[in-house]
Amino acid sequence: MNENKITVTSPLLPNLDEFHEMLKEIWDSKWITNNGSFHKQLEKSLCEYLKVPYISLFTNGTLPLLTALQALRITGEVITTPYSFVATTHSIWWNGCKPVFVDVDPQTGNINPDKIEAAITPKTTAIMPVHVYGKPCDTKRIKEIADKYGLKVIYDAAHAFGVEVNGESVLNAGDMSTLSFHATKVYNTLEGGALVMHDEQTKKRIDYLKNFGFAGETEVVAPGINSKVDEVRSAYGLLNLRQVDSAIQARHQVAIRYREALRNVPGIRFFDDMPGVKHNYSYFPIFINAAEYGKTRDELYFKMREQGVLGRRYFYPLISNFSTYRALPSAAPENLPMATKMANEVICLPMHHALNEEEIERIINCIIK
Ligand SMILES: Cc1ncc(COP(=O)(O)O)c(C=O)c1O
Repeated sequence: MNENKITVTSPLLPNLDEFHEMLKEIWDSKWITNNGSFHKQLEKSLCEYLKVPYISLFTNGTLPLLTALQALRITGEVITTPYSFVATTHSIWWNGCKPVFVDVDPQTGNINPDKIEAAITPKTTAIMPVHVYGKPCDTKRIKEIADKYGLKVIYDAAHAFGVEVNGESVLNAGDMSTLSFHATKVYNTLEGGALVMHDEQTKKRIDYLKNFGFAGETEVVAPGINSKVDEVRSAYGLLNLRQVDSAIQARHQVAIRYREALRNVPGIRFFDDMPGVKHNYSYFPIFINAAEYGKTRDELYFKMREQGVLGRRYFYPLISNFSTYRALPSAAPENLPMATKMANEVICLPMHHALNEEEIERIINCIIK
């Protein structure tokens, strides 16, 4: 085992001196949570950076999913993708709704719009797609279907920080979009997340819901939850926002080098940039065709580990294979052939802003030799 490990990700960390200065301000003010001044500044700065009208900060990327479903009063069945992180489906389950899995498009990894209509029943109330790896879903097609059947659309945009299609934020699609600012993401606030919405009224309602449902000192308007973000994480988030563009540029360079080196390797598939899309290079998944490559995905994955290159089988297993969900009719592998294939072939290569050339070459050599 090579001792010099290359991890799959590395957190974007603010300058410590600058962070100390902001901590001093927080200590002096003695206002440490409940919509403090850094919290307000971060919401404003994120709206500007992300080109969205309204945003509400959350303590992670799971609670905005739960809260969006609550706010829209979603019941019955929710159409979603099995090719995601478990939090997507868990949020549907925690709201007492039934997830209905629909297969993905192998060209993007996102829910296949051609398969959605067949999964709609009289109980369907919403669609929860995911912009997997930050690659935008076919939001136009999904909107057409949602409008036709009167369904809400909540995008799990945990991976899609800063992603734009033809100059417009992908976060403006659907009824609401959620973000994760977890340490492993392109932009992090240690733990954190957000909900993006289109109007002030909805923002107000979400702010009530994330503060126990309080609409005033003595008035509780809904069974809310606690997902308030403190001043320390807000300050950290403001500092990270200043450097996220350069982090994305550095990731882009890594993607360029990976593509150049792996393009002609038999049995290895990866995604190219999509036309008109500003990507964030949050992940670099490769898909291994064992017959052509000469090794299975797991053989390569464990060989990489042996050599200290820590990839991640993300997403494997499919959410639909976990015990809570596998008895659902829509979880049957025959219903999800493309998602099953992707889950069996994927390895996300190390991808972060701080990978150096030597590390990138070590990763590439591990795959091609
Ligand atoms: C697609 C997706 N949805 C939701 C989440 C949950 O976000 P968090 O870990 O911030 O709760 C993640 C986190 O990894 C994710 O990848």
